[in-house]
This record gives sequence, C-alpha cells and structure tokens, in this order.
Amino acid sequence: MKNLKSYITQNKEQLLNELIELLKIPSISADSEYQPAILKTAEAVEKALQNAGCSKVEVCETPGNPIVYGEKIIDKNLPTILVYGHYDVQPADPIELWDSPPFEPIIKKTKTHPDGAIYARGACDDKGQMYMHVKALEYMTKNNNLPCNVKFMIEGEEEVGSTSLGWFVKRNHEKLANDIILISDTGMISNTQPSITTGLRGLSYVEVEVTGPNRDLHSGLYGGAVANPINILTKMIASLHDENNHITIPGFYDKVEELSAKERAEMAKAPFSLEEYKKALDIDEVYGETGYTTNERNSIRPTLDVNGIWGGYTGEGAKTVIASKAYAKISMRLVPNQDWKEITKLFKKHFESIAPKAVKIKVTEHHGGQGYVTPIDTVAYQAASKAYTDTFGVTPIPQRSGGSIPIVALFEDELKSKSILMGFGLDSDAIHSPNEHFGVFNYLKGIETIPLFYKYYTETSK
Ligand code: BES
Ligand code: MN
Ligand code: MN
Repeated sequence: MKNLKSYITQNKEQLLNELIELLKIPSISADSEYQPAILKTAEAVEKALQNAGCSKVEVCETPGNPIVYGEKIIDKNLPTILVYGHYDVQPADPIELWDSPPFEPIIKKTKTHPDGAIYARGACDDKGQMYMHVKALEYMTKNNNLPCNVKFMIEGEEEVGSTSLGWFVKRNHEKLANDIILISDTGMISNTQPSITTGLRGLSYVEVEVTGPNRDLHSGLYGGAVANPINILTKMIASLHDENNHITIPGFYDKVEELSAKERAEMAKAPFSLEEYKKALDIDEVYGETGYTTNERNSIRPTLDVNGIWGGYTGEGAKTVIASKAYAKISMRLVPNQDWKEITKLFKKHFESIAPKAVKIKVTEHHGGQGYVTPIDTVAYQAASKAYTDTFGVTPIPQRSGGSIPIVALFEDELKSKSILMGFGLDSDAIHSPNEHFGVFNYLKGIETIPLFYKYYTETSK
C-alpha cells in the first residue's frame, strides 16, 4: 500500500476538517438535553459511512440512542471484520477549566504533539478514533484494495453503559456475524512506542445514600446526640481500605487472578518513568496498594474509588447544620474472573453491615460489566502487531489497560468473537477531562495503520 502514505499527506486538510465538523456536535449521552445532538451525530456518521463506500448503511432504532450500522460485503468466503466505536461523548464539565470551548475544536501544538492536537470533547474518546476507521475504509474502497468484508457498528451510549447496544447485539446475531471485532477506543504507550491493549478492567458502579434524622438539624441543638450522616458516610468509606490499601470487603479478592512472577517481569519491561508520571500530575508521591508497582496498580489490580460525594451545606459562608442525608458515587474497577454482579452484591452486603443502627443505608446499582483479557498468539494480534511495526517502525508491546469497555465481554458471550484493541490515544490526551485532545499524528497514523491490519489479517486467515 505504497500510495496510502501519500493519500494521507495529500488529503490531510480534508481528513482533519471532517473530524472537526463531527466534533462540533455535542453528543453527550449522559444528559437528555443533548438528545437532538445525539440524533444529528448518528446521521453524520451514517453519511460518512455512505461516502466511505459502504453498500448498506442504516440508523437502527433501539429503546435508547440509535446505532449506526454499515457494511460492505465483497465475498462471503473472505473474513469479516466488525468495527465497533462510539459517537457519544462525556459531559464537558467543569466547563470553566477548558482553555477553549469543548465543542469548538481547535488545533494547537504541544510538547507531546509537535504536529498539533485537536482540542475538543470526544477528540480522542472516541469520535477521532472511530473516524479513523471510516476514513481508512474510504481509502480502501476508493483504491479498490479492500481485502475482506467489513461491518461497522457505531453506538451512542458507551459512556452511559451501552444498554441499548446489549439489546441490539442480542437481537442481531446474524447481521453482526464476524471473524474479528476491531476497536480503537483505548490508548498506546507513546508516539514512539506503540502498544496493543490486551486487557480491560471490569466495572461495578454504585451509589450510596446514608439517612440520619428525618430533617436537617441545628448542629448546636442536636450536635453530639444524633448520627451525622456525613460523618458516618466518610467513616464508612474510609474503612473500605486497610493500611496497605487493600479493599476490606469480605470476598472481594477471592477470584482475582494473580499474575505469575514471569508475567509481572514481562509487564515491567514496558517503558515507564515514575518521575515523569509524577511530574505530569504534579504529585510528590504515588499512592496505592502495597506490593504492586504503579503500572500493576492501574491495570491488573482491582480498585475502589469514590467518584463524587455530597450532602449538607456547601454554599458561601457557614451554615450550622447536621444534614439529614449524605451521598456518594463509588466505582470498583475489576480484573478478569471477578464477576461484576457478584462484586456489587458483596459491596452492598458489606456496606449495610458496617453501618451503625443510627442511620439507614440505601445502595443503588448503576451500570457495570466484565473485564477482558486476550492472548497474543492469535492471527488478529499478530496482524495488528505487523501493521504497527510497518507504520511506526517499532514492534508494539502488549499492555493491559485500566479502563473499561464492558461491551467487549458481551460481544464474546453473544457473538462468540474476540476483539482486537488497536488504540492510538495517549494517557495524556485527557479523555473525560477538560482540554481533551487527540494528536494529528495519532489520527493520521491510525488511518495509515488500519488498512494494513485488514491486509495482514486477511492474508493470514486464508
Ligand atoms: N474509551 C474508554 C475506555 C478506555 C479508555 C479504555 C482508555 C482503555 C483506555 C471508554 O469510553 C470509557 O470511558 N469507559 C468507561 C466505562 C463505561 C461503562 C462508562 C470507563 O472506563 O470509565
Ligand atoms: Mn471510549
Ligand atoms: Mn469514555
């Protein structure tokens, strides 16, 4: 594919401008106010897939946000790649921390991205990475070198738990039949050291509510005599980790897979500088479970984190009050073999058991999902590895990620197919944070690498 590189250089402006247009639509799935933008984005993806040469494109209705499906079947005897991505994005708040408006994309040069990076919500997660696949397909169809069949499934609820996608997949086994699922919704180590994601963590997300007295009370008249729900909640949360930062929920670690010394030594070979890591986050020291390195803590070990906590008076000045209620949102990242529903039950049981009789506890389950690990001795991994080696000039390293894409485990259960995670983002791209961005280099490298995966995968599957 000699002319692939020149195709990208020649069309650079257009490739960037099309993505910029897509990024202008605020497709926030968490907030129903943005429903029109969700529909508009689904239509934009539909058009893009038509332009890219799909012979059939549909915007599929679901009980929630639509799923855009596209396909180009060239020969039933050839392998079929199913591309998955999401067109929904995270909310942009806190909006005041953005240096430029989240839905007015701009390109800025940075130290990490000397060729520039596109700043916008969804630039990396996942509109930019999803769009690389659309443009890679367009290149292949225009140049008559699409080597296999391809299907696209782009959803609009990934950031809120993919409920409708689960519904859709269960009802469309035949339509979605494939040999491999190809996803760019993860990251890589750096622009000089690519990596292929071989694991994702599972997730259990819960909300807790602690209720004390039936109304907010004067903290002088009642203080000391009744339970303060905020005091109790923070004490309960603090007790969920011991002095070694192990999680104290009974049974929590029962199914956790312990990696062998050899596997851990292999992991430790990946380039990583603790000094740079700390510097990038402005922290003097890292913090976590005793006995594990930073990279182990954020990938092969389960965690429990409070994502938000509220209650009482938080306005200006002081108000003397004992609030009636206190709340927290808590996420647990899980590793393969831990069952998210079982962990959610264990959490609930434990949390209720540690509450003093002076308060009432309510635990509400949000979404969750299973983790995922994939071996590297597969046709798909080897094809991806060859593709990255061609375009980066360096062999990619297999790496487990700490993030979650719960739908990947469901794909395996329902469609019986494996996923290959070819991510092109960097951890420093600030996904879910203010000033999210995606390197121009990364975007274009993705478009260049994807057709090579198609080629090598098809060649070795024959
Ligand atoms: N693309 C991310 C997941 C991700 C990012 C995995 C980087 C590995 C590396 C995805 O959009 C995401 O944010 N997932 C959520 C879970 C979901 C159920 C809301 C997450 O990991 O918090
Ligand atoms: Mn994503
Ligand atoms: Mn995300």
